Order: sequence, then C-alpha cells, then structure tokens
Amino acid sequence: MTDVNHPPHDPENPAVTEGEELSASNEEQKLTFAQLAQTGHAPTELDPDAEPVLSVDNLKMYFPVKSSGLVRRTIGHVQAVDGISFQVPRGGSLGLVGESGCGKSTTGRLITRLYTPTGGSMQFGEKKQDIARMSNRELKPLRRDVQMIFQDPYTSLNPRHTVGAIVGAPLEVHNVVPKNKVLPRVQELLEVVGLNPEHYNRYPNEFSGGQRQRIGIARALTLNPKLLVADEPVSALDVSIQAQVINLLQDLQQEFDIAFLFIAHDLAVVRHFCPEVAVMYLGKIVEIADRESIYNHAHHPYTQALLSAVPDIKQAGQGRRERIRLEGDVPSPINPPSGCRFRTRCPLAQEICAKVEPPLLQIGPRHKVACHFAGEIGRHPATPVTSGLLGVDRQGSPDPAVTPQPVGTNPGYDKQWFDLDSQQMVSA
Ligand SMILES: Nc1ncnc2c1ncn2[C@@H]1O[C@H](COP(=O)(O)OP(=O)(O)OP(=O)(O)O)[C@@H](O)[C@H]1O
Ligand code: SF4
Ligand SMILES: [Mg+2]
Repeated sequence: MTDVNHPPHDPENPAVTEGEELSASNEEQKLTFAQLAQTGHAPTELDPDAEPVLSVDNLKMYFPVKSSGLVRRTIGHVQAVDGISFQVPRGGSLGLVGESGCGKSTTGRLITRLYTPTGGSMQFGEKKQDIARMSNRELKPLRRDVQMIFQDPYTSLNPRHTVGAIVGAPLEVHNVVPKNKVLPRVQELLEVVGLNPEHYNRYPNEFSGGQRQRIGIARALTLNPKLLVADEPVSALDVSIQAQVINLLQDLQQEFDIAFLFIAHDLAVVRHFCPEVAVMYLGKIVEIADRESIYNHAHHPYTQALLSAVPDIKQAGQGRRERIRLEGDVPSPINPPSGCRFRTRCPLAQEICAKVEPPLLQIGPRHKVACHFAGEIGRHPATPVTSGLLGVDRQGSPDPAVTPQPVGTNPGYDKQWFDLDSQQMVSA
C-alpha cells in the first residue's frame, strides 16, 4: 500500500537532480575541506568596524540535577554554560568550537531562547534589547530575527510534511504574508538555496543529505533573519558537499547581510567561514580572537592542543606541528575543577591554577585568553602573567603588597589591552 504522506520516488523526475552527491568522486572525498574550499569562495573577511548584532554578557545556563525517588529534590546543577561573554558583529560570523559537551549547543539554544538562561544578558539588534529575560509574547517579533540551522538534515525536517509546508510554516505562524503569497515566497527561497522551486510538493526523503540541509537553510531564511545560529550545519555531510553548503552560506551572508554564530567541531571549516573564533572548555570561553591570532598565535594550551590535532592546519606561526595529546577525560560539568577548569588536563598547570580562576584577559586588539601562563607554544612564561593584575603571589595566595587591577569584562574588545611582554596596558 502506498503511504500518501510518503509518495514513492519518481525515477522520471527525481528530486536529486543537481548531482551534488554524484559529483563527489572518490578523489574529492579524499581531499580535506581546506583544499576543497580553495576551489570555492575566499574565506570570509572580518569587518572590524561592524557594530554587534548580538552582545552576550556573563551568560549562564545551569540545568538542575534531580534525585531519584518519589520526592525529586535538586541535588546539583550541570553548569553547561558558566559566564560566557562575546559579540557577533552585524553581517559577520563568530565560530564557536570545543570538545563534545563543552556547552556549544546550549549556547545556541540560549541565543534562540529555546532555553531561558540562569543568568546574564543578551543584547540584540539596533535597540540592544535584552532578550535573556523576555517573555514569550515579548519575544515573538524577535524570534523572526534569530533563526537556527540544525546539524542533522535527516532528523530536523518533519518527514510527513512537504518541503513547501516546512519552508512556508514560519510565514504562517508569524502571519507575515497573505496565504496566496506563501507558495511564491517558498519557491523563491528554494531557488535562493539552489533547489528546484517546482519541488515544493516533495517530501524530505526524496532529497539527498546536502539538499535536505539546503531545505533547512531555506526554512531558516524564510523570515529574513538578522542572525543565524548554525549548530554543526555541515558535520553530517560528505566533505565535498560541506564545501558547497559553506559556499551557499557565504553567498547568503553577503546577499542578505546575515550574522552567524557558527558552531562546529571542524577547525578547518571554522577557519574558512569565521573571521573570529571562540574556544570553549567546560562551559567557559578560554580564548577568543580573530582568525590570525587563533590559528597562528594561540596562547591557551587547550586551543594549542585542539589545533595540533588538525592535520591540515599549519601552525607555521607556532614553530611546531606535532600533536599535543591531552591526558584524561573532560571533568563533569556538575562538579567542575576549582580555579582553571582545564587544570586537570593541562600540561602547564601549577599551584595557582587550582586556587584562582584565570580571567579572560584581552592581550591584543582582538585577542582574549584565560590562562595564568598565557603564551605561544614554547613561549609560556615561568611565572603567572595574571598575578600582578589579581593581587596574588605566584602560588595564587593573596599578596597584600600588590593592589589588584580592574580586568575588563567588556563582551567586545577594549581599545587598551594587557601586553604580555611588557606586563603593561597598551593601545594601538
Ligand atoms: N537539557 C539538559 N539537561 C541537562 N543537562 C544538559 C541538557 N542539555 C545539555 N546538557 C549538558 O550540558 C553540557 C553541554 O551540552 P551541549 O549539548 O551544550 O554540548 P556541546 O558542546 O554542544 O556538545 P556536542 O559537541 O557533543 O554537540 C553537557 O554536559 C550536557 O550533558
Ligand atoms: S591557567 Fe593553568 S591550568 Fe589553566 S590553562 Fe593556564 S596553565 Fe593550564
Ligand atoms: Mg552540540
């Protein structure tokens, strides 16, 4: 019996016509993303003068952990996101990277307000409205401006709905166009993402993985968003399809001036798409910087370890490329280590690291790092760079002889920063 919701594949008129999957020859499959990207668009450039479309300040998400039994008491919290601050520039893209479980998706879900944060603020748009505390009713107009692209194009589309219904749903929910204008708008969007506009009445199972992701992208574009949270948008795709989808996202970004928070494991993809990158570890941002600083002058031992694991990322600026292997597992976010959360796996950890949390210190025009011994590989200092600022001695105990200095907490970048060589505040 034929399921009306799942019409059989029509061999005369297949949805998979663009041949994107078919063009992925074995030879291409062996190439790295970085090599493939060279045949596509140039890497996205940074506009240092762009105003932030989103400014996140000290954002926290603690999930309660409940006891078992009849009376379920809260016995702890998963500190999934614990006081992170960053900005996404208008029309730009910030990459968010880090190991599994570090809080990337939770951050994306907070920004799209699928979750209500435990603390912190998120200023959005020209009016700088704080979306962290808004009620659902207050949020409704803003939901149009912030959309999400999900990782898995196989599960993120409802298999029982046609592509037209999927892409057109936001238009109906938000009542933004008359009913008779929904289909033309859907067809226009399908064309924008490189799909055949006549395929609006097909079902997701008739499309390839790359095409399904294009449907997800069309759905996210329906309401002309200002910010897209893309959570691992290409990691489920073959490498040659990844490059095509990234090229599409770059085109859309340019054409519609969309900003991206781009969540990904793959540092090569992030390097191509994101002029700025934030590195997360166990709910914290440990380093955030422009592309050149992160990829060629990383100062945090965790960033250095992550980069060393990517074969096609040249660490020319760091003078070494051998793999830095991290010992042990990521600790539980229910009971994270004291002081620096990375200390249980850090090859450089000293006494101060267990006692005092390193602040996210601005060390360059667009570079911040949270490490007492911040430095490039092979150039980490012997004494903590932070002790004078924090008013502590080398072991991290309070030092009455040293007056603590204010450490900036601006979610963006200040005009002055702490120069690691001179141990002084400097400006450009
Ligand atoms: N709804 C929830 N309730 C309780 N804990 C949660 C919830 N969602 C996420 N967590 C926990 O929060 C932490 C961060 O999870 P998150 O999904 O944000 O990580 P991630 O960086 O996106 O990981 P991945 O790379 O695997 O997608 C994890 O320890 C996870 O188990
Ligand atoms: S603060 Fe200490 S433990 Fe943390 S990254 Fe730096 S050296 Fe390692
Ligand atoms: Mg995730």
